[in-house]
Order: sequence, then structure tokens, then C-alpha cells
Amino acid sequence: MKINHLKISLLSLACLLLSGCGQKSEMDKFIDSLMSEMTLEQKIGQLNLHSAGGFVSALRVTEDDENVQLLRKGELGGIYGTGNVEAMTEYQKIALESGAGIPLIFGMDVIHGHQTTFPIPLGISTSWNLDLIEKSARIAAKEASACGINWVFSPMVDICRDARWGRIAEGSGEDPYLGGEIAKAMVYGYQGRDDEFAVDEVMTCVKHYALYGGAEAGRDYNSVFLSRQEALNGYMRPYAEAAKAGAGSYMSSFNEFEGIPASANKYLLTDLLRDSFGFDGFVVSDATAVVEMVAHGLGDLQEVSARALQAGLDMDMNSDGFVGTLRKSLDEGRVSEADIDRACRRILEAKYKLGLFDDPFRYLDPSRQAEQNWTEENRAFAREFARECQVLLKNDNSVLPLDRNARVAVIGPFADAASEMAGCWASSNHSNEFVTIYEGISEASAAKVTKAEGSWIFNDPEMEESIKYGLMKIFAPNMSFGKVHETPKNVLLAEAVAKAAASDVIVACVGELNNMSGEGASRTELTIPDAQRELLMALKKTGKPVVLVLTTGRPLVLDWESENMDAILVSWASGAEAGHAIADVLYGEVSPSAKLTTSFPRSVGQEPLYYNHKNTGRPHPDYEPYRKFTSCYTDELNGPLFPFGFGLSYTSFEYGPVTLSKDEMSHDGEIVASVEVANTGNFDAKETVQLYIHDVYSTSTRPAKELRGFEKISLKAGEKKTVEFRINAETLSYYNHSLEWVCETGDYEIMIGPDSERLEKAVLTVVD
Ligand code: NOJ
Repeated sequence: MKINHLKISLLSLACLLLSGCGQKSEMDKFIDSLMSEMTLEQKIGQLNLHSAGGFVSALRVTEDDENVQLLRKGELGGIYGTGNVEAMTEYQKIALESGAGIPLIFGMDVIHGHQTTFPIPLGISTSWNLDLIEKSARIAAKEASACGINWVFSPMVDICRDARWGRIAEGSGEDPYLGGEIAKAMVYGYQGRDDEFAVDEVMTCVKHYALYGGAEAGRDYNSVFLSRQEALNGYMRPYAEAAKAGAGSYMSSFNEFEGIPASANKYLLTDLLRDSFGFDGFVVSDATAVVEMVAHGLGDLQEVSARALQAGLDMDMNSDGFVGTLRKSLDEGRVSEADIDRACRRILEAKYKLGLFDDPFRYLDPSRQAEQNWTEENRAFAREFARECQVLLKNDNSVLPLDRNARVAVIGPFADAASEMAGCWASSNHSNEFVTIYEGISEASAAKVTKAEGSWIFNDPEMEESIKYGLMKIFAPNMSFGKVHETPKNVLLAEAVAKAAASDVIVACVGELNNMSGEGASRTELTIPDAQRELLMALKKTGKPVVLVLTTGRPLVLDWESENMDAILVSWASGAEAGHAIADVLYGEVSPSAKLTTSFPRSVGQEPLYYNHKNTGRPHPDYEPYRKFTSCYTDELNGPLFPFGFGLSYTSFEYGPVTLSKDEMSHDGEIVASVEVANTGNFDAKETVQLYIHDVYSTSTRPAKELRGFEKISLKAGEKKTVEFRINAETLSYYNHSLEWVCETGDYEIMIGPDSERLEKAVLTVVD
């Protein structure tokens, strides 16, 4: 039996419309009447979004402000990029007294927390803890809404298989199933689980739609070359799940797909997003994505703006393409009034749902800003959450957990670097107060703790300068930033080695600067930068045990480190409470429980590298050396250094065999796959039990493995639990060659285990 996904979504959409009929028609009536009073210019004005002019918190609203001038003409529907309640209140007042008097929507990149910063999204995903993820978005919504923001440019749900892409840091990794579950949790966290927006709930903007993470060669903004089938199976699920969870808006991405940039791609924006996924909110372009279609070679600003509107884009961020050209396009018959009305209506609906017509100032309450941001409670949660985002990759001779009486040398450029704990896309005013690794360890230790910077980031200070100040140089091109380093390298190194030699254990804090990942931060080398690797080599020579704590926005090549370091803890950028959370794990206050959501490569040449790859006709075992005429490399293994789903604990878990309640299933049936998991070590700990499937023979080729379920459980030392997964046709379905969502008959391997490689297997047959 084939399940037609399109029909299912249309059906659920129809039900949704019927069930919400009363409220919907109230809104419709209100908007009908409002739009009947609006001029064409005012309608086009609603389609225009501008930034507040840099991410300024001390913004002053004056008459020569471009946004004020636009507002006075009724040519602005929203402003993003400020959390300054006073300034936003001024803007809102001007919006209400100008044009059609329609309130502004206020957007912001709230990506991993707001004032209380949580670990970067890639780190968050490694918790595999949907409850904590939802709660983190809930707290971010409270904090952001208390700063006047009612629309967040989050969740970022782009699947990425290539660690060279800097924006891998902003998403949930390489797996579409996990990405889909996280996308839903984030939408629920920000928006709540019902249709109403309480004053501390905000509208989400799911980004970057679509397929932005498929950028060729991992170079940011690059073209995406994927078949529709691969796009649907490997990348689209999180976007679709976010729509199911009720996401209020989407952001169209910079990349092209099938020769058409996403912002003018009707297949993506209308056929798939609305007609198939059932989304009924509005779509905003990414910043300047409309005007960038001129450089893509699609036409001049008027042409690309008209195409974008017709394809299903509703709001133009920062290009002034809609506001500048749509009137002309209408006069020339290149767009219709209905196209403009449709987009305007969707934006007004969002404002209506947010309650802005009832009270345009409902989010602009200055007393909430201080009371509800950066609170003790939120910081306590940041610590609890960050503890679950630390991935332990190696722990030789149980060097961890540390003995509280051991003398520790905390060494490296990230040892005492508060603001580097923030990660990319963090807009907290408090990043200088974030808890450093050195501070966390000092609080936890009962013995002497020393620190040293140890090295520069790179041997080439110019490279470091251009990365560190890249963004600032755009905003302030004439500003001078001075040297990144005053102290010579050899002086730093000598101090570090002396302190290391006088300690019992070294905690080496190295990695990537915040600005080395995120937007416009692709890399072709994935090793720890040269100067820092030299530091690690010198520390190793002291003969003391070395625990590597890695700050990074992406998977790195840890070839030398995995051979030479005693322990490796991947800490990402862990946010406001980084140092406390890291120390909690290092000292065994909690056992690490995070697991990778991206494959860590052996060599950059393996990229793109992902566990859910196809087999090819000449498969080559992941960990066997070169053999001619099979699909492998002459100079490197196929397998990752650390696989998807992998992460160590201080305890040990044993998995029993996989049992199926029945080994045959009809298309409308359901079976249960179960496994017993025992904590056989001495620590109470959490474990993420993972379910993978493989369709043995299929009408199209399928990945060697695909994650289709997981459960994070707590097990006390010595305790056992049986974990059950319900499996039905939906669990096994995929988009076939005709792009139908189907569950095909035949045998499926059902695999359960602690990561994507150590799996117990059973076979399930799907029958007609
Ligand atoms: C560009 C980025 O791609 C996007 O993620 C962000 O939301 C917008 N700029 C607005 O800041």
C-alpha cells in the first residue's frame, strides 16, 4: 500500500481549517475590512522588513533614521535586530500614527537562548534530550519577548553533511529524523503548544528554507545540487515537521535549487511548503536574498522581485525590492493585485495571531526586560542543559572524572575566555560574564588550579585578526582594532609548559573561535589551528595526562589528538554556564551523556561525510584498507574517526538482543521492537538508545542505515530497562522515485544500539 503524503497533508489542512473555523473567520473578517481601507502602497509597505541598523542595543530613534522615514510613508511592515524596548516603542508609535496605522512586527536572531545563552545549536542537538531542548526555547521566548521581540529567526533546521560549512554550528547535524524531532521541540518551546500566543511566547521563523546546508563543497551561499528525491529524503523532514508543529513563518534561503534561487522557487515555496507540508503562515526572504538574485543572474531587481512574489515569497528582508518595484510591476502587468494582497494578508494574519492589533504594545513592557532576563533560574537551567551537551570521545585509563585533590593546569587560549563560550549568533549583553572553563574548574577543585593562555589561535596573526574582526570591519571599516596578540608565542608557550609540568593533570582548552563557524565561515582545513596543535604537542611532552576540552562550532579532524590525548571532551561553545557545566562533567558530578549528531572525519578529504549514505554497487567496509575497484580511498579509510550517535559515559551499558513482537507486519499494522539495556558500571547515567532501519531491497536505493527513533533514558548503576519502539508503515516510509511517500513490502533490518555502528539487528517483513 502506498501512502500519499500530499493527500494526507491536504486532508489534515482541511480538518485544521474546519476546526479553527470560528476564530479563523473572525480574523478573516477583521483583515478583510482592514485591507479594504488600505492603499496599494500601504499593502506593499507591509511586505518590507528592515534591520534596525546593526545589532544595536543603545538605539536612538530620530527623524533622520531611514526606518522612521519609511514608517512615515507607510513603507515598513517590520524591523529586526534590536532588543531595545524604548526604541521599539518609539517605532511602534510612529507606525500607528502613519499610513494605515498597522503595528510593526519585531524580529531577532534568537538562536540558542537570548540573554542567557545556551550551547550552540549543534551542541544542543547532541543532548538528544527533547524536553530540555523545548525548555531552552521556552526560556529564550520568555527572555526575548521581555525585550520586545515577538518573532524569532529560529529554529535553524538545515541538515548538513559537510563539516566545512560554518553554519553546521547553527543546526542539528546530519540526520533528518533527529533534525525533525528537534525542529518540533523548538517550535513548541517558542510558540507554545496551542494556537494562542501568550505574551511570553513568540512566533518562529524556520530557516533557511530550503536545503541551504547542502551548499556544494561546504562553501557558504554556494549552489545546491540534489535530486528532488534526495532532497526530500535526506533534508526536508525538519522543515516539514516544523510546519506540522505550527511554525508561524519561514525564511527563504540564499542558495539555488534546480537552477532557481530558493527565494523565487515556486516548487519550494508553494508546491512543497504550502501544498504538501500544509504551512499557512508567511515567508520572509533571508537578508538581501531578493536583490542577490540579480547576481545569481535571474534578472534586474524588478524582475527578481516579481518572480519572488509570484513564487510565494511574502516579505522582503533588506533588499527594498518589493517596496521599490512592485507598484511598477503591477502597472506593467508583471504581478497581479491578488499576488500583493495574498502576501499582505499573510503578514497581517501573523500580526493578528500575535495579538498586535488588540495591543500593539503588548510585548513592549520595559519592566519585564530586566526582571525576566539573565535570571538565576535561567542560568541554573543553562548549566543543567550544557552538562547534557558535552560529548566524551575518549577517556583512556579513566583519567576522567578528575580527582578533586589533583592539581590542575588549565591551559590554552580558551581556558579563560568568557565571550568565546558564547558561540556564533549569540546576542547576549552578558557574554563577558559567562563562566570560563578555568573559573568552573577553580570552583570545583579542592587543590591548586593554575591557568595559562599557552598559544595564539593561529601562527598567522593576520588570519586571526581577519576572522576575529570580520563582522566589525563591515560595520566600521575605518576602525582600527590593534594587534590581536601582544605577547610573543614562545613566551606564552614557556609559561604554559612550566605550569603544566607543575600540575598533576592538564586540561587543554583549544579549538575554534566563535567567528570560525556560523555564517560566512567555511573552512578547507578541519584540524585544530596550527598554533594550538603545537601547544598540545608541547603539553604532551610534559608526560602529564592531558584532557582536551574542545571548543568548536563543527566536527574537527582529531587524528593526532585521538592518538595522543588521554581524554577528549567536545564542549562546542557551551554558553553562559559553560565553565560550570564542563567542570560538573570533568569532576563526575554528572556522567557525560551527549552523543554526536555529525560524523567526525579522519580527513577533510572525506567530506561530505555522513552515516546515512548509500551503499553503491561496490561497497567497501568502513574500516578496511584500500582495495582496488571498490568504493574507497587509496590513502584513508571510509569510516569516520567518531561516528554519528557516538559518545562515551563514565559507566558502561550492555545491550541485549533486539526482539520484535512479530516478525511480519501488514501496512496498517504495528509491531514493537524492544531491547534491554543494563547499566553495568558504577555511575548513575543517562543513555540514548537509538533505532535504525534498513530496507534490504527497495524500488529505489536506500541509505545503509537511517535513524527512525531514539529514547534517552536514565539508569542507576546496576539498573536495567527495556526500551520499546513502536514501528509502523510511517516508520519505514520514504519518498520513492515518483516522490510518493511509501512503505514498500519486503524485509527491513531493525537495528538498535548506542550509536550508528554498534547495533543489534532483527529482520521485519512487511507484507501486503
Ligand atoms: C542572514 C542569516 O542567513 C540569517 O540566518 C539571519 O536570520 C538573517 N541574516 C537576519 O539576521
